Amino acid sequence: MSLPALTDLRPRGGRLIDFNRPHMTGKELHYIAAARFHGKLDGEGPFTRLCHEWLERSLSAGKALLTRSCAAALETAALILDISPGDEVIVPSFSPVTTANAFVLRGAAPVFVDIRPDTLNMDETAVEAAFTPRTRAIVPVHYAGVACEMDEIMRIAASHGAAVVEDASRALMAEYKGRPLGAIGDIGALSFHETRNVISGEGGAILLNRAEHVPRAETLRRKGAGRSRFFRGEADRRAWRSEGSSFLPGELTAAFLWAQLEDAEAVCAGRRRLWDRYHELLEPLETAGKIRRPKSPPHCLHNAHIYYILADGALPRRKVMERLTSDGIQAFFHHVPLHSFPAGMRFGRVSGSMEVTCDVAARLLRLPLWIGLTEEDQERVAASLASL
Ligand SMILES: Cc1ncc(COP(=O)(O)O)c(C=O)c1O
Repeated sequence: MSLPALTDLRPRGGRLIDFNRPHMTGKELHYIAAARFHGKLDGEGPFTRLCHEWLERSLSAGKALLTRSCAAALETAALILDISPGDEVIVPSFSPVTTANAFVLRGAAPVFVDIRPDTLNMDETAVEAAFTPRTRAIVPVHYAGVACEMDEIMRIAASHGAAVVEDASRALMAEYKGRPLGAIGDIGALSFHETRNVISGEGGAILLNRAEHVPRAETLRRKGAGRSRFFRGEADRRAWRSEGSSFLPGELTAAFLWAQLEDAEAVCAGRRRLWDRYHELLEPLETAGKIRRPKSPPHCLHNAHIYYILADGALPRRKVMERLTSDGIQAFFHHVPLHSFPAGMRFGRVSGSMEVTCDVAARLLRLPLWIGLTEEDQERVAASLASL
């Protein structure tokens, strides 16, 4: 079978401005070749260790373990917490199905709460009312790499004896009051999907911020057997210890990811420049009341993962999308509220109003943002929006 030429795989036609293009640092193939040469290709090789150490050091996380996706990290979190049928987990409705499904898989019910109109994150003032005696965890999702109000969420969780699992899928290197996201709650989940700032195709990591969760996480991710402990000489055989699966990626994925993590600071800085440029270019449109730009409170350092606009009521999103498309610019909307799906209501329930969630979901549009986007590209996007 002949493979398509690499250039055929790029969705680039004419002067189309792509929504996203995965950024490569240039070292990926070199490190993959090194992993092949080294000959240790399962999930406990040297590149995996380098990635773990980087995440622990850079994010001040207790313990980091690579997973095959953020979904796998969230599923591991649900297993660590022994989430069981009849339990409830509080999640924002403005999130992808993955956030809820990790807990639905364990038989728990997601309880959907509304989001804040400024950051589009879980409305922390709606969380208390969502609690019942069955609530086991709160799952704040840091939308667009902007932090949820973690102090209040942690306070509410502690007062009820519930766990906090941060869905930091899109929040690598973003901070809340100087603390890296993913490392504040009991457990954090990251994604390295090809659409993220730092990528490995598919990929993720679980951050274990409580030492007592580490042994269970290590067993769960390695098929329920005591292999990690066996290799450290702490167990005398590969005993079947608990339920488990194979959540860890192989060394080739870790080698690719290491090439990305080494440059993560520069990538984040580059994306912040692009984000700031959009913010500047689109200010007059916000002042004119045509759109609303994203908001990141001063105590939240965002990671420039997404630049979105909210179309004004008088200017329907459909019209904005049509204009951008006709000008050769790809722009996408985002989450469809989870409570609006039949499955959402079959598995879970709503707590309180969903007004902001529904309003935002209908008006939000994400603009192209990737390393390599030029100033001219950004000016074209701004001009297209200004022409409406
Ligand atoms: C908030 C959030 N959590 C989790 C995920 C799933 O990430 P992954 O594809 O790495 O499983 C996504 C994907 O879109 C996401 O937006």
